[in-house]
Amino acid sequence: MNRNLSLCLALVLLSIVNTFAQPVATTMPRIIEKDGRHALLVDGKPFLMLGGQAHNSSAWPGMMPNVWRAAEALHLNTLEVPIYWEQVEPEAGHFDFSVVNTLISQARQHKVHLVLLWFATWKNGSNHYMPEWMKRDAAKYPDVINPKGQPVDSPSPNVKATLDADIKAFTAVMSYLKTTDTQHTVLMVQVENESGAWGSVRDYSPLAQKMFEGQVPAALMTPGVLAALNAPVVGSGTWQQVFGDRADEYFQAWSVARYIGQVAAAGKAVYPLPLYVNAALREPFGNPTANNYESGGPTDNVLPIWKVAAPAIDIEGPDLYLNASDKVLKVIDLYDRRDNPLFVPEAGLIAENAKYFYTVLAHGGIGFSPFGIDDNGVAEKAALMTERLSPFAQEYAAAAPMMRQLAEWAFDGRIKAVVEREDHADQTIDLGAWQADVKFGGDGRANAAPVYNQATGKLLVAKLAENQFIVMGTRCHLSFQPLGANAGKAWQYLKVEEGRYENGTFKSLRILNGDETDWGGPGFGNTPTVLRISLVVR
Ligand code: DGJ
Repeated sequence: MNRNLSLCLALVLLSIVNTFAQPVATTMPRIIEKDGRHALLVDGKPFLMLGGQAHNSSAWPGMMPNVWRAAEALHLNTLEVPIYWEQVEPEAGHFDFSVVNTLISQARQHKVHLVLLWFATWKNGSNHYMPEWMKRDAAKYPDVINPKGQPVDSPSPNVKATLDADIKAFTAVMSYLKTTDTQHTVLMVQVENESGAWGSVRDYSPLAQKMFEGQVPAALMTPGVLAALNAPVVGSGTWQQVFGDRADEYFQAWSVARYIGQVAAAGKAVYPLPLYVNAALREPFGNPTANNYESGGPTDNVLPIWKVAAPAIDIEGPDLYLNASDKVLKVIDLYDRRDNPLFVPEAGLIAENAKYFYTVLAHGGIGFSPFGIDDNGVAEKAALMTERLSPFAQEYAAAAPMMRQLAEWAFDGRIKAVVEREDHADQTIDLGAWQADVKFGGDGRANAAPVYNQATGKLLVAKLAENQFIVMGTRCHLSFQPLGANAGKAWQYLKVEEGRYENGTFKSLRILNGDETDWGGPGFGNTPTVLRISLVVR
């Protein structure tokens, strides 16, 4: 064989090997629902996004090496990364997908999937990612006007020219994905980022005011929607008449959701990927009014409006930056709805937040993602970032080999979880025939005194059978007691195996017994341990 021919053959072989090594999805990713729970199907099977999001300005080819380093350190399987309108359409009607193309081909090399974030009309309530040609033309693409008649730093959701421009650009993005991403590296697209307005509850421009003084659209006037919005069921009326002191914020939510719903619908018509929006949350307790939060985005109180106004959006997802576990748990409850698959697109990169990965699974969620995983161009931050990623990285490293099982169990409603609260109080989990008793605040040894100030402990239980469980956790201690007909009876561990999943099968490393189970049951230390536990009543 001559030298050129062997080189050719070697290259062909290499490309075949590469093709098979990459995450190649043969069918479109899609979301399905069963008994009010959801799954993201990738290659036809439930998939759990072990996600991480790059910093806002890191999705440029020159910055991506840092992002990939972080992605590897985090053991993620799905990178969330922005794509910028200002880069994609630098001149009106002239599209440049070179950066999108780089992101997709690098993701394939790194064997991970992508969630692309369309930073366009809204980014945290402002229009800072609009292309320059739009920024220069405030008359055509105006801002929200506040009650004093002054513009605020947020695009008006009521202007057709802006909407048309976004639809055109987003449709071009989705067409590009359709033609180039035939192996479905991209799993979902986030439409805009934390939409809404800071600084004015709604748009008071003459155009918006006229709409506000008109009738509430019929789609909102159904008994179900009105009841969900705590409004009296009436046949018709203006925003003020129907919604009273909530009229301004509901009008703004309708306006933003209608706008984004139309952008999403146009993109989906071209290429039907799952689409979602993320929410800058409001405080989940006390029903605060919109002058206290980013008005118009998919906050919990206006989810019924978003569901009606933007049906092409599959998921409204909460960005978790709240600092108390009761608030975070409440938010997760509020976004876990029959009509809303649970996905946490962002969580602050603090150690306490890693535990909510378990809560999301217990709610049948499809993915979780800490925000800002890379060093953001500050090389000296690299070591610090590795440390900050660590609590999440350890969870993902343990979860990755059993990702498909976790996704199945979550979809089947087999997972329950508890997370350590700030008071380190003990908690219980009802598993049907058994109750799990979970003690926090220790270091995993029996009866240990609290040693951690941070509330980072967590425990997840997947019920395999009546008396058999997969358990995963950190910084807690676990025991059981029989419930129901067997309550009060003596019981024992039949077997407690420590191990890990490999290719869908649990591989036992050792059987825990004696000191490791006798003193109040198995303990979980700083790094997550996976146990398979069988129990027996005697
Ligand atoms: C939430 C936004 O969605 C992100 O893009 C980022 O700005 C963070 N807040 C702040 O770090």
